[in-house]
Amino acid sequence: MEIKKIGIIMNGVTGRMGTNQHLERSIHAIMQEGGMKINDDLTLMPDPILTGRNENKLKALAAKYGIEKYTTDLQSVLDDSYYKIFFDSSGTQYRKKFVEMAVKAGKAIYCEKPTAITTEEALYLYELCNKAGLKNGVVQDKLWLPGLRKFQMLKEQGFFGKILSIKGDFGYWVYEGHVEDQPVQRPSWNYRSEDGGGMVIDMHCHWRYVIDNLFGEVKSVSCRTATIIDERVNEQGRAYDCTADDTAYATFELANGVHCQFVSSWNTRVRKDDLLTIQVDGTQGSAVVGLRKCLVQPHSVTPKAIWNPDIDSPINYLDAWHEVPDATFYDNAFKIQWEKFIRHVELDEPFRWSLLEGAKGVQLAEISLESHDDKCWKDIPELG
Ligand SMILES: NC(=O)c1ccc[n+]([C@@H]2O[C@H](COP(=O)([O-])OP(=O)(O)OC[C@H]3O[C@@H](n4cnc5c(N)ncnc54)[C@H](O)[C@@H]3O)[C@@H](O)[C@H]2O)c1
Repeated sequence: MEIKKIGIIMNGVTGRMGTNQHLERSIHAIMQEGGMKINDDLTLMPDPILTGRNENKLKALAAKYGIEKYTTDLQSVLDDSYYKIFFDSSGTQYRKKFVEMAVKAGKAIYCEKPTAITTEEALYLYELCNKAGLKNGVVQDKLWLPGLRKFQMLKEQGFFGKILSIKGDFGYWVYEGHVEDQPVQRPSWNYRSEDGGGMVIDMHCHWRYVIDNLFGEVKSVSCRTATIIDERVNEQGRAYDCTADDTAYATFELANGVHCQFVSSWNTRVRKDDLLTIQVDGTQGSAVVGLRKCLVQPHSVTPKAIWNPDIDSPINYLDAWHEVPDATFYDNAFKIQWEKFIRHVELDEPFRWSLLEGAKGVQLAEISLESHDDKCWKDIPELG
């Protein structure tokens, strides 16, 4: 049995996503499992080196997860041909610089979304990799969440009949930070457009691949955004002006004629099944898709609703939904995609979540903001 080590440069992993999802729950988890067993003769074992600006933070992170290698000298590891993969989860605005460095060094490139703030830059990064003949990918984690996978299964089994409409509701309350015992739970840059923040650039990147993959290609968008909370407190405890949108009301028209509405908000208190719910109504049945769960109501058991606000409803509508059971093991969504990318790099297996797909997400975000500015519907031209 050969255990083949795969050198991976993990850049910007002292951040929230890098630490929790990419290091702890993906790469470290794969290492703890003894690597990725490919067949009886081969196991692929990630061998990460952590890179970033702050040596002490890197040292502490490496120690916590038992990772042997870390450095603040990114160029030195890029120059080392042992490392085949460069991964970036630094702030969005630094992506271009890091990807350019890694492309020059001939690494396979894998990065967080959004890959850039503008479509032009996102497309440039894809083309840079493509021209250099480098394998590339973007994180599209939501595709491997159990709730969304259950939806895919139902769709493939013909549960919905003809899908008629889609309603997505995303969000929760992000503490502003003014109350000591309610500390902020997201980095402050997310609420400053000059630092790459904003609901649309953050979430419409996700909605693009979710909609394209699950429901049909996005053809056009109508979007209104708002900055509902205009002051928050930063990591240093100082108040700052929120310059980015924290709420977006969008309708997407798909090439198959279906309309898809998404409300995204950081200022809403949750009274629903999950932080993201997507209700899909079809001729034969409906589903409410959450992050992990998926509730269904077939047409045959749809209760007869009668409008009468003068009495309490005789029907408990929530009881008319049934949960799709777990029929398999659902691993961490980020880890699943990491394994696919490593197999793509090492074994040449297909990987369709490229930086071009990443650019499509940025494109939808950019055009959504244009729709807001111009107060009109906008078409989404084909990319690439
Ligand atoms: N896939 C998802 O669901 C998801 C969710 C949240 C965030 N993200 C994306 O992940 C990325 C990181 O987000 P986060 O929430 O972890 O943010 P964060 O602020 O917690 O982390 C940012 C990281 O970038 C590093 N960094 C900042 N400035 C830098 C510089 N000048 N040079 C080098 N490194 C620098 C920081 O040290 C930190 O390690 C963003 O692009 C964000 O859009 C993705």
